[in-house]
Order: sequence, then structure tokens, then C-alpha cells
Amino acid sequence: MCGIVGYIGPKKAFPILINGLKRLEYRGYDSAGVALNNWGLKTYKCKGKVQDLLDHIGDEDVSGTIGIGHTRWATHGEPNDVNAHPHLSGNKRLAIIHNGIIENYAHIKEVLIKEGHTFESETDTEVLIHLIEAIQTKENLPLEEAVRLALTKVIGAYAIVVLDKEDPNKIVAARKGSPLVVGIGEGEFFIASDGSPIVEYTKEVVYLKEREIVTVTRDGQITIKTIENEVQTPFIQKLDIEIEALEKGGYDHYMLKEIYEQPTRVADCMRGRLNSKKGNLIRLGGVEEHANRMVNADRIIIVACGTSWHSGLIAEYLIEELARIPVEVEYASEFRYRNPVIGEKDVVIAISQSGETADTLAALEMAKEKGALIYGIVNVVGSSIARLTDAGSYIHAGPEIGVASTKAFTGQVTLLTLMALSLANKRGTIKTSYYQQLARELENVPGKIQEVLDSCNNQIKYIAEEMKDSSNALYLGRGYNFPVALEGALKLKEISYIHAEGYPAAEMKHGPIALIDENMPVVIIATNKSSYEKIVSNIQEVKARKGKVIAIVTKGEKVISQLADYTIEIPDTAEPFTPLISVIPLQLLSYHIAVMRGCDVDQPRNLAKSVTVE
Ligand code: G6P
Repeated sequence: MCGIVGYIGPKKAFPILINGLKRLEYRGYDSAGVALNNWGLKTYKCKGKVQDLLDHIGDEDVSGTIGIGHTRWATHGEPNDVNAHPHLSGNKRLAIIHNGIIENYAHIKEVLIKEGHTFESETDTEVLIHLIEAIQTKENLPLEEAVRLALTKVIGAYAIVVLDKEDPNKIVAARKGSPLVVGIGEGEFFIASDGSPIVEYTKEVVYLKEREIVTVTRDGQITIKTIENEVQTPFIQKLDIEIEALEKGGYDHYMLKEIYEQPTRVADCMRGRLNSKKGNLIRLGGVEEHANRMVNADRIIIVACGTSWHSGLIAEYLIEELARIPVEVEYASEFRYRNPVIGEKDVVIAISQSGETADTLAALEMAKEKGALIYGIVNVVGSSIARLTDAGSYIHAGPEIGVASTKAFTGQVTLLTLMALSLANKRGTIKTSYYQQLARELENVPGKIQEVLDSCNNQIKYIAEEMKDSSNALYLGRGYNFPVALEGALKLKEISYIHAEGYPAAEMKHGPIALIDENMPVVIIATNKSSYEKIVSNIQEVKARKGKVIAIVTKGEKVISQLADYTIEIPDTAEPFTPLISVIPLQLLSYHIAVMRGCDVDQPRNLAKSVTVE
């Protein structure tokens, strides 16, 4: 949700800022802007993507060695040139970029207007820079002190970076609720929302903590203070990403690259945790550390949003079936505001690719306060959720850049499968022989995902051609495949803008069946073993209403293949592991449809990858 980047040092700032913004564009792409601060404060900004900004700047002079850049996902004020960041103070001395929301901006604005301030944009960010200006001018303070005092008056979430025309040898940045990383190079500093704009220059970073303000200067000084004015020692860490992971690697889109990475990433997620040849087949550090509380939990509550919530639903099936612990899966945004009953014997698991989703983070904070054990299943190392939790497991999917989540989903489901099996074994709820059999089969899953990628892509392209002009689509599944249906529908909606609904196959007759006619493609994930006849009946019901059935079945299946208009065969596996394989054709289907419709696959309209606002 908004990407921010800053640079101070001996190099030209502009190419570093633009490069950084391109890497951060997945966080929002409603508008983009930069400010440079060598010979006076120069800002360039416009509606649209980073490329639009470059076109807008044309051959203007963009030299300078200190600057900030922003790519926006609009909250306050529509995406237009005026609302684009950076924003300037009234006296045009200060420039700010901001990720987050200043909740009490209306009140602050009212006070400032009474003091004579006028505003150009509708943003909360412009209000904040005017507040900093007011404090700085009244008391003639250095920038960092004015920023600090202003932040004591602000309610909300922010990562901000501020420049002062009168002090072109300094950048001040601060965070609360939104991430910020400082990169330390040779006589230079980088500031960014995540490590991706920094990694090609340095791997030494400091992750700013909540309510911290950092000042970096041209002479190599880095100073960190809390908003309460306590000096902190910077904790330097190694950035754990490789530059190749941030490139498209020959694929047309990041999403396609990420779909094809899944066999490797699922295997990475299992590495060191699953070894079917060893006595202790599965070892998840987080579970082992808190084995007592996890094994004896009254309840597991899973909180998440979007695709991660779908992984949570699969976990409900897995953990209840295998480990026999009651599981509830909640939208984080609903959970945190409905005063839920949480006890000390509950385990609350947050699932989040980014580890920054505001609602998920807040739900966890609440659960922590109520004494539950909080566990994070996260992709981004060092993210806010990873830092807040008592225990956790990284999914090791590598940077996911396509806004529509693919490899993070299979990574999450793999991790949750390992967790369910480990808990089941510890609780003795499944026979050892079955546990061993499942562990062996899980090791085969990456190979089976590869098989789907190798064998189904051309056929899926063909089906995509048939589906691409539909206005609606229905996705149905039962059991483990119900959340997969939800995920398939979400993927289609997100990137192709075709309205799609996921439904439990049997529930279809209580509503969506009314929508079915010869124009309605119905994607049915029908690899079930336990309720095979039932899903066959559901397909009959759709066919009786002339719906067009696209069925995902297990290789060798005969009955459904006769009924369906199109059949995609996937390899057989143990039923609890089906989602890891059955989701792959659905990802490819939505990808190809979106490409055929000319949609921006990696940056679908209105969406952002990391939702750091409520
Ligand atoms: C956004 C993304 C989705 C993601 C959701 C939750 O909506 O576009 O792909 O599933 O946020 O994000 P998280 O990082 O918490 O998994």
C-alpha cells in the first residue's frame, strides 16, 4: 500500500529512486512522484504508473544526489496529479512522502486552517507536512525534531520520509504501522518500504521499529530516536533477498514466473522440515518450541485476509480432520472489531504473505493482549507480523511481486499441511502408519505440481480462449476443494475483471443455480474421493441447466469426463493434499484469460499487494 523510497549519497539519486519505485510498484500504482533536493526542492508527480512519471518528466534536469520517491495506492483523495506524492509544506520548504493513514487529519487540518494554512490536495499527507512546518517555524527547530513533535500529535499509521530545502544533507524518516527499511551503503543511505529497492546496492539494513524516527546525513551519520525522544542503537541486519528473485527471469509476467516457481518453492517450504526417511518425519521449529500449548490448545483461530484467508480455510479441513483440534477461520477485519471470545488456551494463527496487512496485524495484537499464543505464517522475513508473534514459520516462497497471490498460497498451504500432520502425530490422532504414508506422499507433491504445469498449460489456454468473453463464472468444489473454488474465483476476478463466485458445490442449489444458463461457465474441482458421487450429481445439476462445465478431475477419471464440456486431468494424491495441485490449473486459467483480455496481469486495477490500511 504505497511504496516509498529515498536516497542520500554520492550517486545520482533519480535513477535509484525510479528503479526503486519500479520494484515497489506492486504496492500501489495510482500515481507516482519524486522530489530532489540539491539546488532547491524540485518535485515531479503525476497520476499513473512510474512509466507515466518518466514520460511526464521528459528531459527535465533531474540531477541531484538526495531525493525521495513515491508510488501511491489512493486512500484520501482520488488518484490524480494533485493528490500524488510528494506533498509540500505551505512555505514550500519541506517535502513528504507517506504510506498509511493519518486518522485525525480532519481535526489537525481544521486547526491549521484557522492558523492560516491553505491546502492544495485532499490528502491526509499534506496535512501532516503542514503540521510539521507549523511546528518547525514556530519554534525554529531542526527537521528531525519538528517531525518528532508532529508525530506526537498524530493518530494513525504511517511510514514517512521528509526532506528540508534548508538542509539538503539530511533525510528524516519515521514509521508506525507501516514498514520502513534503511539501507547502509558506502557513504550513502537508502530508505524504502521493503528491501527490494535496496538489495542491488547494499545488503546491510536496519529495519525501523514501531514509533522510531531515523535521521541519515550525507556525512554518514545514522541516528534513531523514538517519538518519545529516546535514542536507540541501530541494529544492522543482512538483507535476505537476491536480486534475481526480483526479476521476471524471461517470463512475460511476474505472475506466470511465480506460478512456474511453485514446484521449487513448495519443496523449499518443506526443506529441513519434512524427511520421510527420518524417525521424526516432520519438525516445524515454531510448533516444537511451543509444543505443549499447541498440542493442548482448546481451539485454533486463524485470522487472515484475501488469498491467505483461503489457505486458512484449507487449514481448517486439515487440522480438524488430522489433529482433531477445533479450528475457526476469521476475516481479520471482522474478528478484530467483534469482541471475540479468546482465552489463554487458544492459539491464534495469522497467515499473511506480506506480514504487513493492517487488519491481520491488529487482530493478532488483540489476541496477544488476551493471552492467546500467537503464531505467524508469513512470507516476508522480518515483517511486522513476523516480529510480533510468539512463534512462527516462514513459508520461504521468495519475493512475490504479482499482485495476485500464487506461490504464497501454495507455500502457506504446504506449511499448514506440515503443521496439521505434526500436531496429529503429537496428539496421536492418526495412526503412525498413516502419518508415515502421508509424509511420504507430501514429498511427491512438488513433482506433481510440475506435472500439471508441463502437461496442462496448452489445454488451459484453449479453455481460456473459450471463457474469455464471459461476464460471469461460477467455481464449485466440495471438501478440501471448496476453498480452492473460492481461490480460483478470486484469481479470475482480480486479474481479468470477470465477475466470479466460488461456492460449495452442494450449496449451489440454494441460490447460484438460478444464474446458470448456456452462457455461464462453471468450473468444478472434482478430484474428490470422499464425496465423489455427490460432486457427480452436482455436475449433472449444472448440465441439466445447460451450464458449460470445466471440470478438474483426477487422472484416469471416466464419469465426469463424459459429462463435462472440458476436462483437465491432474495427478492423484492423498485427499488432504489435493488443494496444492488442484489450484494450479485455476491459476493458469485466470492468467491466460487476463492476458487474452489485455488486462494488466501483475498490477490489476485498484488492487495493491500489501494492504497496510484498514
Ligand atoms: C491483498 C493482496 C492479496 C492478498 C491479501 C492479503 O488483497 O492483493 O493477494 O491475499 O492482500 O495479504 P497478505 O499479505 O496478508 O497475505
